[in-house]
Amino acid sequence: MTTSSSTKPTGAPTVAVTPVPLLDLKRQYLTIKDELDRAVLNVLDHGKFILGPEVKELEAKIAEYSGCKYGIGVNSGTDALILGLKSLGIGPGDEVITTSLSWIATANSITLTGATPVFADVQDDLNIDPRSVERLITDNTKALLPVHFNGKVCEMDELTTIAEKHNLKLIEDAAQAFSARYKDNIAGSFGDVACFSMNPMKIFAGLGEAGMILTDSVEIKDRLHSLRYAGTVDREICVEPGYNSRLDTIQAAMLLKRFDRLDEVIEKRREIANIYNEKLHDIVMTPVNSESDGHVYYAYTILADDRDDLKEFLESEGIETKIRHPVLMPQQPAYKENARGEFSNAERVVAKILSLPIGEHLDRDDIDFVCSSISDFYQKYSN
Ligand SMILES: Cc1ncc(COP(=O)(O)O)c(C=O)c1O
Repeated sequence: MTTSSSTKPTGAPTVAVTPVPLLDLKRQYLTIKDELDRAVLNVLDHGKFILGPEVKELEAKIAEYSGCKYGIGVNSGTDALILGLKSLGIGPGDEVITTSLSWIATANSITLTGATPVFADVQDDLNIDPRSVERLITDNTKALLPVHFNGKVCEMDELTTIAEKHNLKLIEDAAQAFSARYKDNIAGSFGDVACFSMNPMKIFAGLGEAGMILTDSVEIKDRLHSLRYAGTVDREICVEPGYNSRLDTIQAAMLLKRFDRLDEVIEKRREIANIYNEKLHDIVMTPVNSESDGHVYYAYTILADDRDDLKEFLESEGIETKIRHPVLMPQQPAYKENARGEFSNAERVVAKILSLPIGEHLDRDDIDFVCSSISDFYQKYSN
């Protein structure tokens, strides 16, 4: 357990507190500092700072790992989604059905193509509810954009069946779910395109902004190469307006080093999740799992009664938690006037969700402390 001392206000005795942070980015860096430093120095030395050889290596590695033909490195998960949608021809007049519960980049990416997001309800596992999706389909619906929320892959059998039946494009927002599995398949292998974020908070994380798009289609890959660099062909001839969304070589170089440790990192998260499941399932609602769900636990999220009081209590114990995300996308100020969709279950669960600390920086004492603190809260403070 990480121990530091904190001083109480004047007059109060000094007590040792044992903070349990949600994540520890510095520690993640220090774990393989020498390798990361060398990777950066190597890029500084060869000087190909954008789309250098490490970008190509990373694109090939991620594509192969995820069972896809092509990887296209971009500079964020948000850009991956915007470009991914555009590469499928999504634009003004189109509706894209997505979940109600995600980081707002998901809805923004749809809006920024000129299309309209339509918000489906979620199941108790916090992923999009396929039955809700089907109810929301209209003549204008062009695509489905499910989010593998918290690192758990959505019900892809149902969603791919719906997409095929209604002739819809399928874009996976796999920002939180690198390496997650559903039955025999891996996140990123289901959609026409799949989009990943590798920002520092993610399980497979760079040390800055980074994103990746996967596809099996050579046409889509070529269009994405153009879209990520000003809509150009051969770097000079602009065939459609585009952004500058290329992936930095330094990020790719560091991601290649982090890739080698990925299995270890995910294994540790699953171990922690198993302890939480075992110790907390009688006290709060623990994540809904099935044996084959292949959850990678980007977040370990419980559904808790008296959530706000529990959060405050855990904070007073030095345990950092997070509500991911407190405002549903259709209820954000930017969307609530015109949001179409259904989100009654999402409203119910969003009042209860709380993400607990998870990651390599935690040891068994930390996890036991989180569990006993939650148990104490419900025994002593909750009626
Ligand atoms: C579900 C989801 N979609 C999209 C994004 C956007 O990724 P980025 O922050 O790399 O732009 C995130 C990032 O947190 C995310 O969690």
